[in-house]
Amino acid sequence: MNIYVTRRIPEAGLQMLEKAFGKFEMNPDDRVLTREELLEKVKGRDGFIPLLTDKIDDEVMEAAGPQCKIISNYAVGYNNIDVAAASKRKIMVTNTPGVLTDTTADMAIAFMFAVARRMAESDVYMRSGQFQGWGPMLLLGQEMTRKTLGIVGAGRIGENVAIKMAKGFGMKILYTDLSGNEFLEKEVGAQKVTLEQLCQESDYISIHVTYSQATHHLIDEKMLNCMRPSTILVNTSRGPVIDEVALVKTLKEGKIFGAGLDVFEDEPAMKPGLAECKNTVIVPHLGSATIETRSKMAEIAAQNLINALQGRTPEFLVNKEAFSL
Ligand code: GLV
Ligand code: GLV
Repeated sequence: MNIYVTRRIPEAGLQMLEKAFGKFEMNPDDRVLTREELLEKVKGRDGFIPLLTDKIDDEVMEAAGPQCKIISNYAVGYNNIDVAAASKRKIMVTNTPGVLTDTTADMAIAFMFAVARRMAESDVYMRSGQFQGWGPMLLLGQEMTRKTLGIVGAGRIGENVAIKMAKGFGMKILYTDLSGNEFLEKEVGAQKVTLEQLCQESDYISIHVTYSQATHHLIDEKMLNCMRPSTILVNTSRGPVIDEVALVKTLKEGKIFGAGLDVFEDEPAMKPGLAECKNTVIVPHLGSATIETRSKMAEIAAQNLINALQGRTPEFLVNKEAFSL
């Protein structure tokens, strides 16, 4: 089997691939391939492992060739892949859900704390030698306990955040989702509301929807305008779910308390002005970035690829409908 990995992933996955297929090719440099390199490198492969930073559209699939059976994404999100095009070509698309649920949920929670208690701002304050001694009004933050948390998208990750914050901090949970989440309603009394209501009533808002045309700019100027001066907005899903230009404006005008952002609309770039927004904690897409989870993701991505090329249905097949009879 002729396989390819577009960038080095943790050793555990590479070892599995080597055991199954012998020596194989991988991008030797720790960087994203250029479009030209990607189109060249996928040629003739039976399957390959791309990252969320690789845009895998019909042109790439065409370049790969008709023997290509699987695209095993090293991520839970797969908006970087044109799944419809893959289905048409009978190429399996797989992802790595489950193992990063706690990891990403914990990151969302870390953002809530960091913004509520102004950790990033205070860190800069301290390091730049501004601390003159304790002050009753110095860098005041906000409480979290018993506040209202709005979960936008109550899938695995959103549900995990809600349960932890409801049980650990007595937060009241509101949520939006395409379907209802009965477990969440039973377990912590969560209430399904409209997005507008969620934006109006939540002190904390954490976004956990997948990205698609339907969720593009879901949080737009109108929704931002519904939020409260106390609102802390956290995004660990995909950047374009928020209209980032509108968010910068909202933050600059002090209309919400702050934001915690793991993802950006034009990643890796930030919209102008975002870097100057003080009470905003910004990190470079690290939601699943723990040693343990990245290693498990590598194993799952490898196993998906191995299963597909050895004639078994991969456990985390995204486009099941294209393969059912
Ligand atoms: C990370 O963003 C992922 O989708 O796994
Ligand atoms: C989906 O991305 C999820 O795991 O919530």
